[in-house]
Amino acid sequence: METVLSGIRPTGKLHLGNYFGAVKNFVKMQETHNCFFFIADYHSLTTHPKPEDLHGNVKHVLAEYLAAGLDPEKATLYVQSDLPEIAELYLFLNMNAYLGELERVTTFKEKARKQPENVNAGLLTYPTLMAADIIIHKADKVPVGKDQEQNLEMSRTFARRFNRMYKEDYFPIPQAFNFGEQLVKIPGLDGSGKMGKSEGESNAIFLSDEPKVIRKKVMRAVTDSGPTEPNQQKAEPIENLFSLLKVVSKPDVVAHFDEAYNSCSIRYGDLKKQLAEDIIIFTEPIREKINSLLGDETAISKAARMGAEKAHESARKTIREVREIIGFRPF
Ligand code: TYM
Repeated sequence: METVLSGIRPTGKLHLGNYFGAVKNFVKMQETHNCFFFIADYHSLTTHPKPEDLHGNVKHVLAEYLAAGLDPEKATLYVQSDLPEIAELYLFLNMNAYLGELERVTTFKEKARKQPENVNAGLLTYPTLMAADIIIHKADKVPVGKDQEQNLEMSRTFARRFNRMYKEDYFPIPQAFNFGEQLVKIPGLDGSGKMGKSEGESNAIFLSDEPKVIRKKVMRAVTDSGPTEPNQQKAEPIENLFSLLKVVSKPDVVAHFDEAYNSCSIRYGDLKKQLAEDIIIFTEPIREKINSLLGDETAISKAARMGAEKAHESARKTIREVREIIGFRPF
């Protein structure tokens, strides 16, 4: 059976981008695959979270995952820092990761530009830690959004390099996955770029947002002055609203607004009202579950402990074999 793995940094609340880019596919795959899902708390250390915040953030993301449909009985749901084996594999991979290739990674360049005062080694070696996350369980498929494509490419490079170096076909070469389709990029509400490109802003709609907050955010989304001729190409902010509509609304609703746009009769206010209501219909049941799970310490701890045990077993096996392959042998 194929192994599937994905993860998320506990830096904030889950937004529609996280859901439609990664979680939705994962939830589907847990029915048929050997699935691992983890909270990337080692990764989050690149931004130096306060110790008193870290645990709460992890707990929050766990609750949101469970609410979004992850089933700890079907998938292995765990916290990254419960598996020190990942840190060990990260160390091994770093010995064969080169400065030039790490510096060329787009996400590194972006982060380095955004936070020049904190360009740390963890940021530079983010792709090797991510590769360790994936290959520690010998994952074949990795459901992620489009923004993770390059990181996945790096994971493949590191897995291949290990196999070549030790002349073993040990690690499978992991593939970014979205059921045979293009990886998804859910846009934000500010007219350009992806949802969640900056954390905690009105550019993103969170699964835990109250209906009135969703309405307010959507009504404020950037638009233009409207089409002036039939079948005009849509500008990016309008394309973005249609992209959101496509993921939450029924096809006939999308077709209706498309037709209205193409015939220049569209009223963006109507489009936004419909979009907000459809987002609310979609998020409401998840939000209710998030709220009830956040008050249920027992369910969250139980899921995390159960996941840690299962994940540990798989990681321990890989590390034992990798040590042997590298040449660390017991005396
Ligand atoms: P993170 O925490 O930024 O995001 C978690 C997942 O959500 C997807 N995503 C999106 N998809 C589509 N449109 C968007 N606007 C959007 N925003 C976020 C991301 O692609 C991701 O799948 N490096 C990863 C976490 C990670 C990981 C891993 C993932 C660490 N190790 C191993 C997979 C495998 C990250 O920062 O994702």
